[in-house]
Amino acid sequence: MGQGSFYITTPIYYVNDVPHIGHAYTTCAADVLARYHRLLGEKVLFVTGTDEHGHKIEQAAEKAGLTPQELVNQVVLRFQDLWEKMNISYDDFIRTTEPRHVEVVQKFFSLLQERGYIYRGEYEGWYCVPCETFWPENQLDERLVCPDCGRSLERLKEESYFFALSRLEKPLLEYFESHPDLVMPESRFNEIVSFIRGGLKDQSISRRGVKWGIEVPGDPEHTIYVWFDALINYLTAAGFSQDERRFSEFWSQVYHLVGKDILRFHAVLWPAMLQAANLPLPRRIFAHGWWTVEGEKMSKSRGNTVDPNRVIADYGVDRFRYFLMREVSFGLDGDFSERALISRSDSDLSDNFGNLVHRTLNMVWKYFQGEVKKPAVYRDELWEKTLEEAYSGFSFFFDRFAFAQVLENIWKLVHLGNRFIEQKAPWKLAKEGEKEELVRVLYRLLDCSRILAVLVYPFLPGTASKLWKMIGMEGEISDFSLSSQISWEAGPDLYRVGKPVPLFPRIGDKK
Ligand code: MSP
Repeated sequence: MGQGSFYITTPIYYVNDVPHIGHAYTTCAADVLARYHRLLGEKVLFVTGTDEHGHKIEQAAEKAGLTPQELVNQVVLRFQDLWEKMNISYDDFIRTTEPRHVEVVQKFFSLLQERGYIYRGEYEGWYCVPCETFWPENQLDERLVCPDCGRSLERLKEESYFFALSRLEKPLLEYFESHPDLVMPESRFNEIVSFIRGGLKDQSISRRGVKWGIEVPGDPEHTIYVWFDALINYLTAAGFSQDERRFSEFWSQVYHLVGKDILRFHAVLWPAMLQAANLPLPRRIFAHGWWTVEGEKMSKSRGNTVDPNRVIADYGVDRFRYFLMREVSFGLDGDFSERALISRSDSDLSDNFGNLVHRTLNMVWKYFQGEVKKPAVYRDELWEKTLEEAYSGFSFFFDRFAFAQVLENIWKLVHLGNRFIEQKAPWKLAKEGEKEELVRVLYRLLDCSRILAVLVYPFLPGTASKLWKMIGMEGEISDFSLSSQISWEAGPDLYRVGKPVPLFPRIGDKK
């Protein structure tokens, strides 16, 4: 059960704000993984969506002179538009205001109540209204400001439903001990374990003052705390209590991608909620780093948030996707600047990748009018070894969500291709009438382009399909499986190629 399936999630984004590169980053990474797993032939469920309840949304709506529902209906489109532009191949888009989700949240709440993990009590504490978070005293200093946003906290006392998180401290620790891959990278795993060891307190999970939320079953004066509501989206999208088949196929294979700032919710509260409900825990929770912009923290007040729409309009979606995935190791922080994007893309995509393909196709036209037959003798140890290494590195790093290293590995093949052209000097072979060798060289280069198209497909889906067509391959590249394509035996009997169009014209020259 669940074997050969892969369920990948992004956080569901707040719709009180427009999308920026932080949102684009996680969603892009999830898309790369989804596409990779589809190439492996697995059944994939890739879900993203929006977090639409809570006080922040209520406030933003009020400011905009709209009802909360009107506001979220407008803002959700900005996310969906961006995902379309970014070629995000999600299978499901979940909005927490959908009836299917409201139903699951209430069911889940009742289930935990029945199991004795939810009780009524009174909560008093320091509360950050904009962040909708109560802060424990030991995380505050005498200024009494929110550790996240720096604004003043309010003392709040209210009747509330509580989740008995403290009772799950031991079972959680035991689970972490036997599942060292549950949270990645490793440093984050250690951080979470020591946080749990520090002791867990019961968590207030309802609000009286917040109207815009899901009602507590049987007690409509209370709405359910947004984080409790939001986390359950992962269950809703998997079909929990609504689609048993979907649920049994995907739940046991769920992988969460989150930013480091929301790791605790995902790595402490969420697994505890699942344990309380007696449901299997996620396979992995991966926390990625944060982007700064030109060395500074990105924020609305600084006015330096980067709009992905503009980056795509200026540079094209695949340069953007490539930069996000290649520039920093997944898990570490990184810095975004147009300069870095241009230099990364000119060197890797234009000078190396694009150049290899372009020279190859030009020569195929120059010497053979666009057609190259598969040579009779076609073996080369260096190529075989390089491909083998590139391919095993490919899956090794992919399994660890090490996207930058996956790409680095693929580029070994790109570099070999470019070196091969220099060494073999096809122009000399043509001059000397070495036609057979010339066929072997050009067929190899076309075959290398075919394999590269498949390998880069998860990252650069648009470019990969273009290249696939350009070298005359039939069908959609996404319909082929990795294992059927990644070999030197898999090439067609004849390559009939299209006219070469540069895949990545250099930008630096223009700017
Ligand atoms: N709604 C919650 C998530 C609920 S999931 C059950 C939320 N939403 S959010 O819209 O604020 O943003 C979420 C994601 O954007 C987080 O994963 C966060 O890490 C990411 N980022 C926000 N700014 C970022 C950067 N500057 N860089 C990278 N990621 C950033 O939190």
